[in-house]
Parts: sequence; structure tokens; C-alpha cells
Amino acid sequence: MRIAIASDHAGFVQKDPLAEYLRSRGHEVIDMGPATDERCDYPDFADKVARAVARGDVERGVLICGTGLGIAMAADKVPGVRATPIQTVEFAQLAREHNDANVIGLSGRFVSLEDNEKILDAFLTTEFGGGRHTGRVEKIMREDDPGFAGVPADFGI
Ligand code: RB5
Repeated sequence: MRIAIASDHAGFVQKDPLAEYLRSRGHEVIDMGPATDERCDYPDFADKVARAVARGDVERGVLICGTGLGIAMAADKVPGVRATPIQTVEFAQLAREHNDANVIGLSGRFVSLEDNEKILDAFLTTEFGGGRHTGRVEKIMREDDPGFAGVPADFGI
């Protein structure tokens, strides 16, 4: 599989080892930075990977920051991307099976390299389940969704 990977300074320590791990599993990995662990802003790197996924240049994106949270939030803003932070193998499986996630946010500070390798195995080998999940994922991806700005002030809660 063709995969783009990137991190911020907090995830940098795991970026190259995870890229090497993925290559050892036969994947083609495109490293989108950063080149050093100098302090940087995770949205900049999330954006590069998310756009590569959205364009179809790669099939999946792997992002690593301190928690996996911010970098996944930033990636998920790009249309066509379904990004989520993941800390366990089971959640990685479910994010693929139920949500067809195409970008994963990993924690470089709170999850070990070995556990992140197992999480990536699950993320890359689990197929989308389809069936009842298809319509739900389509609703997530609705391009005509007006978003919060389109929600009337009086919406009954
Ligand atoms: C950087 O200190 C940290 O905020 C970042 O890596 C990430 O955890 C944000 O969600």
C-alpha cells in the first residue's frame, strides 16, 4: 500500500522507526516531514498528509504527535479525509471496519513504538465492513452539509 507519514516534534521520535517498520512490511512510504525534532506546528504536517490522501496520491495517512489528538483533528478538516486518533488495536480495527478511516493519528508520547506498530498492522489490514456502515460514512462525507453555520438558532434542544 502507498502511505504518507508525518509528525510534529513530539511524534518525531517514532516517525522514522514507524516508516521503516511499514517498509519492512512491504508498503511504499512517503515521508512528508519534518526532517528534525525542532519544534513545529502539527497542523502544517497534518495538512500535507491529508491532502495527499484526499488527492488520491496515497491510500492512507499516518500522523504522529504527542497525543495523536491534534494532528488527527487537523487532518480531518480536509474534505475526503476521515482521520481519527487511535490508542489501541481494537479501536484501529473498528475505525477501519465501521468508519473507513483513511488517516490515523498516533501518540508518540503515551503509546510505545511496539504498540503503535501493532495498531498500524490493524489499521492497514482491516477492511471497511460496508453494509450498514456505508450510509453512515456517506453522511459523514456529505459535501452539501451546511455544517454548524447552517444550523438554525432554534433547533429544539
Ligand atoms: C505538542 O506539545 C503537542 O501539543 C502536540 O504534539 C499534540 O499532542 C497535540 O495534540
